[in-house]
Amino acid sequence: MERKLNFSAGPAALPLSVLEQVKEEFVDFNGAGLSLIESSHRTALYDDVHMETMTLIRELMGVSEDYDVMFLGGGATMQFGMIPMNFLKAGGSADYVNSGAWAKKAIADAKKIGNVNVVWDGADVNYASLPGKVSSSPDASYFHLTSNETIGGVQWKEFPETGNVPLIADMSSDIMSRPINVADFGMIYAGAQKNIGPAGVTLVIMKKELLESASDRFPAYLTYKNHAAKSSMYNTPPVFPIYVMNLVMKWLKSLGGIEGIQAINDKKAALLYSTIDGSKDYYKSPVDTAYRSSMNVVFTTPSPDLDKKFLSEAADLGMISLKGYRDVGGCRASIYNAMPLEGVEKLASFMKDFASKN
Ligand SMILES: Cc1ncc(COP(=O)(O)O)c(C=O)c1O
Repeated sequence: MERKLNFSAGPAALPLSVLEQVKEEFVDFNGAGLSLIESSHRTALYDDVHMETMTLIRELMGVSEDYDVMFLGGGATMQFGMIPMNFLKAGGSADYVNSGAWAKKAIADAKKIGNVNVVWDGADVNYASLPGKVSSSPDASYFHLTSNETIGGVQWKEFPETGNVPLIADMSSDIMSRPINVADFGMIYAGAQKNIGPAGVTLVIMKKELLESASDRFPAYLTYKNHAAKSSMYNTPPVFPIYVMNLVMKWLKSLGGIEGIQAINDKKAALLYSTIDGSKDYYKSPVDTAYRSSMNVVFTTPSPDLDKKFLSEAADLGMISLKGYRDVGGCRASIYNAMPLEGVEKLASFMKDFASKN
């Protein structure tokens, strides 16, 4: 089989070595005589994987004991609702940065629960940039931002200081792609299916101090305290995605951890942006250069017809899912952790070739 170079925004490419290991141990896990996905989550066979995955995440991201690590269902989308349910105080309000499509969804859910204060609105700049400086309201319940807008291709390079107001970040599309200081955040969350595993599990990292303030007036699953108290075994956890995430964490460690992968990610992004910038305006990126995403590189060719031709010829060469988001058009190369540098080199070389022929 010739493997495709998968530039999908998510679910996205996974490391080949991980897929092969899953295949190898799928039917008989560790010689136990059964598959891990047939095993009760209350057995040592699964428990070891679950707890080891949490430890690996702590180790890779430098998560201290002041934080809980949780594995939840419902995608990052579930967090859009759970965050205000748990933390938006009655009569209070929460700060949100409207940086694009995903931030908007988070804001829409928060508005169903309480008051939202949009502290910066990207609509004013067509969602192609981010605020240089933004402050939190002193009495906000929390301050929410989207560290990387997967559709618009804008990424925070430095995070705002929010003082006593807990900073909450949706890191779905750049988690573990670059080092961050977890201690700066009250909560970090990310659907796994871009950088850290398959769809079906959402990683939540939450400061215990913030957790203590969480509400418990909503149904059990929507109450963070229940998940934290039971190490994410309050109910049946998504065992298969957690197991694959375990393997992805080991793969990341073998590459030198998050610093190691960042060095590769920086090269990949630099190569694509220099190809765009060096094309004499053949390719154009709509994004402010200061906030260009290192994960989702958004660009256009000179016309929608050429975009189509570009996508079709790329697909013929095995480079798939380069189409921009349906409402946005153009092209988008998602180059998450598992996309190798060689894959991006092949894309950059095709881009140059295509521009000279068209
Ligand atoms: C930044 C961001 N937030 C949230 C989501 C929604 O995630 P999910 O589909 O896991 O609910 C996505 C999905 O693509 C995303 O890119």
